[in-house]
Amino acid sequence: MRILFLGDLVGRSGRQAVIEALPGLRQRYRADFVVVNGENAAGGFGITEPILTELIDAGADVVTTGNHVWDQREALVFIERHDRLLRPINFAPGTPGKGAGLYKAQNGPDVLVINAQGRVFMSDTDDPFRAVERELEACGLKTGADAILIDFHAEATSEKEALAHFVDGRASAVIGTHTHVPTADEQILSGGTAYISDAGMCGDFDSVLGMDKEEPLSRFLTQIPSARFAPALGEATICGVGIDIDDATGLARAIAPLRLGGRLSQTEPAFFLSEA
Ligand SMILES: [Fe+2]
Ligand SMILES: [Fe+2]
Repeated sequence: MRILFLGDLVGRSGRQAVIEALPGLRQRYRADFVVVNGENAAGGFGITEPILTELIDAGADVVTTGNHVWDQREALVFIERHDRLLRPINFAPGTPGKGAGLYKAQNGPDVLVINAQGRVFMSDTDDPFRAVERELEACGLKTGADAILIDFHAEATSEKEALAHFVDGRASAVIGTHTHVPTADEQILSGGTAYISDAGMCGDFDSVLGMDKEEPLSRFLTQIPSARFAPALGEATICGVGIDIDDATGLARAIAPLRLGGRLSQTEPAFFLSEA
């Protein structure tokens, strides 16, 4: 099974690039399942219902989020109507929406997607490790799901690596999001779980994390907010990873980065372009 994962979409630049490219990429890579992180899709902050619908229509099977999920307050309501939108699983009990779901990939296999959020250098949440553990106990690899993908939305690489080792051999992949900067540590852990600390963002890299440079720079220089953060509007780089999963075991055979368009060096997962 081939899974395509795209990191945080930032504003119009990242969103439009993904909406335009995704139908073609799905076909070109013969991807069976696509997950995108949409927490910054609406003007850099949160997600709206029309944007969610556009992403799903373009070919996203699941849209994950993170700490920005409620920036557009309407998401607190419409998340209840959308099975394919996830918020972090370790938010307080009673929070609207859900943090995990089981979805059909192309040709039938069941993919469990879990969205969790880290606690290091981030706002308070419940324990992501125990939350993920409960989910894996309820729906394990090859007992409940044919593949398990975890979007771990976290700041600290230490916490991301630790969670990946915590589930090594029990999940197909742990993909980090939130920092917006792609890391070069993609690997398959000893138990067979694919891992990368951060998939990077889909957005304009002539920016500070996808935001127009001026205001972040001014805040670093003066410590005085003088305007709202606004997304940078130059050409986006679509950042993500491709994961090849062994259908027999549900574990990973390969993981490789994807970077298309914009300013970053360009790369595609070679195994997505080969036959069979
Ligand atoms: Fe983000
Ligand atoms: Fe985030």
